[in-house]
This record gives sequence, structure tokens and C-alpha cells, in this order.
Amino acid sequence: MLEAFSLKGKVAIVTGAAQGLGEAMARSLAQSGANVIVVDINEEKGRDAAKNLKALGGQAKSFRLDVSDRDAVNHMVSEVKSDFGKINILINSAGLNRRYWMKDMTSEDYDLIMNVNLKGTFNTCQEVGRVMIEQGTGGSIINVSSMSSLIVNRRRAVGTYCASKGGVNMLTKAFAAEWAEFNIRVNAIAPGYFKTPLNEPWINTEQGPDALSQVPMGRFAEPEEIGPTAVYLASDASSYVTGHILVIDGGYTIW
Ligand SMILES: NC(=O)c1ccc[n+]([C@@H]2O[C@H](COP(=O)([O-])OP(=O)(O)OC[C@H]3O[C@@H](n4cnc5c(N)ncnc54)[C@H](O)[C@@H]3O)[C@@H](O)[C@H]2O)c1
Repeated sequence: MLEAFSLKGKVAIVTGAAQGLGEAMARSLAQSGANVIVVDINEEKGRDAAKNLKALGGQAKSFRLDVSDRDAVNHMVSEVKSDFGKINILINSAGLNRRYWMKDMTSEDYDLIMNVNLKGTFNTCQEVGRVMIEQGTGGSIINVSSMSSLIVNRRRAVGTYCASKGGVNMLTKAFAAEWAEFNIRVNAIAPGYFKTPLNEPWINTEQGPDALSQVPMGRFAEPEEIGPTAVYLASDASSYVTGHILVIDGGYTIW
């Protein structure tokens, strides 16, 4: 049965894999047999992450780029194709937030959030998907959305981020609909509150306990808890799953 979860010999690109959820998912893919390409704007951390992945036994490589830079994405994808010969899996975890109430959000920060979270996801999906179509092998694309794509977090200044992640959900469904005929499955993971550097600035303030009181399971998630879900969606274990938004939020969106 566990054979269905194997990623042996698969080639995976993971954006935002220098730290946080991207790094945790990259590790899980490598532990399941995949060769992983770490893509991140943080060159040093990306290089370290790739080194740690290599120690797990497979091949790994890192690229420094900004996912909102289309030319850089195109260049990276063609290099991966020529170095590794194929691309089977893409995970889009690169993302950021700027926390302002909607009345105070600047046009510059709005553009930054949308360019990285939404346009960046479009850039890599389109470019990698084109390679998968050309290969004729199918593939699995996983976009990292957020529970904030489905709700607006109570008492938190994250409205623009929510809008960007709502867009990620619809990009996921649009690509899934158009690429089902090529056996390219496109799904999203919608995490709740995980203990990553993204959340460190506020998790230890008075906002931490307030957020926690809204989580039925009563705790924040460890980054490692997202890994098995990424392996499930990347592998044949989810062979008939596409266009799905898989929520991992300790129950936040129940209430
Ligand atoms: N941590 C959470 O609780 C949580 C909850 C819901 C959704 N998410 C989403 O999960 C994803 C990962 O979040 P995280 O908590 O690991 O954040 P993080 O800040 O720890 O890691 C994000 C990574 O993305 C990279 N990155 C940022 N902008 C980039 C760009 N323009 N180009 C390339 N790389 C870039 C960063 O350098 C970093 O390594 C994000 O899309 C985030 O919105 C996180």
C-alpha cells in the first residue's frame, strides 16, 4: 500500500524551500525518494537547505530567484529541465505578508503581496506545466494557499493577504480544469497557524494567545506536520484528486 506514496526518482521543484513550510515539505519529498530543487530569494539559506537535502541521499540543487520575476523563473525551469531531464512535481510555497488594516494598506505593499503570492504562483505553474505537457508524463502541482483564503482571520490585519490566497485557490482550480486532460493534477494546501518564521513576529505577542483561542485543537502546528500531506498530493496516492483545497488548520475554519 505504501508504494503509492513513493516518490522514488521523481524530480520536484519547491519554491520558498529555504525555510518554514517549504523546507519541511522539501524534506518530506526527499525522504520519500524525490530529487529536490530548492528555489528561494534567500540565496544562503537556500544553499544550506539543498545541502541538508543532499545528506538524505538524493540529488538536490538550489536557485536564488524572485518568483515574481518571470524571466528568472523561465531561466530556472529550463536549467532544471536540462540538468535533471524532467520535472514531475512543483510545490509553490514562496509567499509573504505585510500586516496592515485595509484602510492603511499602501499601493506598494498591495502590489508586493499580489506579485509574490499570486503572480509568482502563476509564473511557476504556467512554466513548469508547459514542460509537463511537453513531456507527456503528467505531474502534480501543489500551491500553498492558506485558511485565510476561505475566511478573514478575526482581529488580524491580513485582508490583502486573504485576497491573494483566495486568488491562489482559483488559479489552482483553473489550472486543474484545463490540465486534467494532460494528467497534470493541481491542488492546494490551505494551512492554518504553523510555527514558522512568517509567524514569529506576532506569535509571541498578545496576539498569540488570542489566535490560539480560536483554534479548536488548542495549539499551533509544527512545520513538519505539513510534510505527509505534501507527499500524499505529490504521489500516486492522490491519483484521482485534482482542483482540491486541502485545509490543515487544527479546526480553525470550523468555528
Ligand atoms: N506559517 C503559516 O502559518 C502559514 C499559514 C498559511 C499559509 N502559509 C503560506 O505558506 C507559505 C510558506 O510560509 P512559511 O510560514 O513557510 O513562511 P516563511 O516566511 O517561513 O518562508 C517563506 C519562504 O519564501 C521565500 N520567499 C519569499 N518571497 C519570495 C520570492 N519573491 N521569491 C522566492 N522566494 C521567496 C522566503 O525567503 C522564505 O524562505 C506561504 O505561501 C504562506 O503564505 C503559511
